[in-house]
Amino acid sequence: MLPRRPEPCLMVIFGASGDLTYRKLIPALYDLVAARLLPSGFAILGFARKPKTSETFRQEMRRAVEEFARSRPIPIDTWEDFARRLHYMTGDYNNPADYRRLQQELEALSPAGRSNWMFYLATPPEVYRPIVEHIGSEVTLQRQGGWTRIIVEKPFGHDLDSARALNQHLHRWFREDQIYRIDHYLGKETVQNILVFRFANGIFEPIWDRRYVDHVQITVAETLGIGNRGSYYERAGVIRDIMQNHMLQLVSLVAMEPPAEFTADAVRNEKVKVLKALRVDTSRGDGTVRGQYGPGVINGQFVPGYTQEQDVAPDSTTETYLAMRLMIDNWRWAGVPFYVRSGKRLPRRVTEIAIQFKMPPLLLFSERTANEIQPNLLVLNIQPDEGISLRFSAKVPGSGENIQPVIMNFSYNALQTPVPDAYERLLLDAMLGDSTLFTRHDEVEASWSVIMPVIERWQSGQGSFLEMYRAGTWGPKEADDFIAADGRSWRVL
Ligand code: BG6
Repeated sequence: MLPRRPEPCLMVIFGASGDLTYRKLIPALYDLVAARLLPSGFAILGFARKPKTSETFRQEMRRAVEEFARSRPIPIDTWEDFARRLHYMTGDYNNPADYRRLQQELEALSPAGRSNWMFYLATPPEVYRPIVEHIGSEVTLQRQGGWTRIIVEKPFGHDLDSARALNQHLHRWFREDQIYRIDHYLGKETVQNILVFRFANGIFEPIWDRRYVDHVQITVAETLGIGNRGSYYERAGVIRDIMQNHMLQLVSLVAMEPPAEFTADAVRNEKVKVLKALRVDTSRGDGTVRGQYGPGVINGQFVPGYTQEQDVAPDSTTETYLAMRLMIDNWRWAGVPFYVRSGKRLPRRVTEIAIQFKMPPLLLFSERTANEIQPNLLVLNIQPDEGISLRFSAKVPGSGENIQPVIMNFSYNALQTPVPDAYERLLLDAMLGDSTLFTRHDEVEASWSVIMPVIERWQSGQGSFLEMYRAGTWGPKEADDFIAADGRSWRVL
């Protein structure tokens, strides 16, 4: 199949002098240009408060590309091709006059006024509302010809009410099919592979349910702390930063029913059904363990505790670790716990999904083997060692029936095909008008609905206590007790 190539378009990046633009968006767009996946009529207009010229913007973006692009070194002609597409304008997000200037700039950059316009919200979420409104009222209101789309970065809302309000606000100015809510996890190759693995193979789906699966464990572990994002993280915590979006996306992809067709709406309909059947299991306690990292050692380096980080209150109770037991009340999954955990400053950066199957119904060899028989385990490694492994039991060679677990491993590295960055895939999809890997309005609201009861219990003082853990360890010891109470244990990673 030929690579898909979008129509020419102009992308306006609000927040063009920010970190996301520098580390992710520009490097990904450069990589798309370098791979010749974007047409010559594609251009970028950075918009931000910081005064600078287009030339200064180009110089800064050159450094961004050198630091973060995938395709390096940077050939001079490819850079020049990219640089000529970069423009910048200074503007105030709250000032309608600046949007009128933006509109004129866009017209000037659009060949014969026919071009397509894509707006990217890469600013702090506090200014999403004025930007959306001013785009709608000053920039696109009179527009004829060409498409208009808007990409909205996370966090999408701070809670269910604000997410709903933001959806309503967006819908005043844009139709749902023009709105692309990004969750960069969905752009990861291995996350998309969950669907391929499940639905392009015949042998897994028949055992993918409560009859064969004992439980599912999903881990999103990071060694990083919060860097210079203290003021954002203080209001978010891991529940909003990872659980409400990335983690629930992983849960819904693992648990969803096969869609009738591979279209954006069919896939998202199935994901929404999972989210609607999903709940945090409160049959014991509030179904969560939350923690906060104290000082410790990561990769041989001393690191400060969370409350010593920049812009964090010394008495902060924000959680940097969270484990939860989730249940899905539907025919496929009733009674199968999904244990999820995520934390900052853990010993390893790893994201994986482990499907633990039930023990064989009859343990024929248990008397004869010196090793304990272990159930089958399927692990989908999302990062960093992207791949899939299956654990099963095999006979140890020799006389007798000694049994040991062995692992069958598929690694993406072995394919030697470069894996694109999540933003490359998502930016290209948005330009192509394919919203399969973006979150629909009802999906984002359904995932907030799963999380809100936990937040409300914590706020009312009825939820789990905040436990401390040393940076460089696998979270508070209460997390081990939590899963041990069900007769299970966290995977050792
Ligand atoms: C972001 C969070 O959405 O995802 C960060 O805001 C987190 O706190 C990051 O570090 C993790 O993404 P990745 O792709 O590194 O797993």
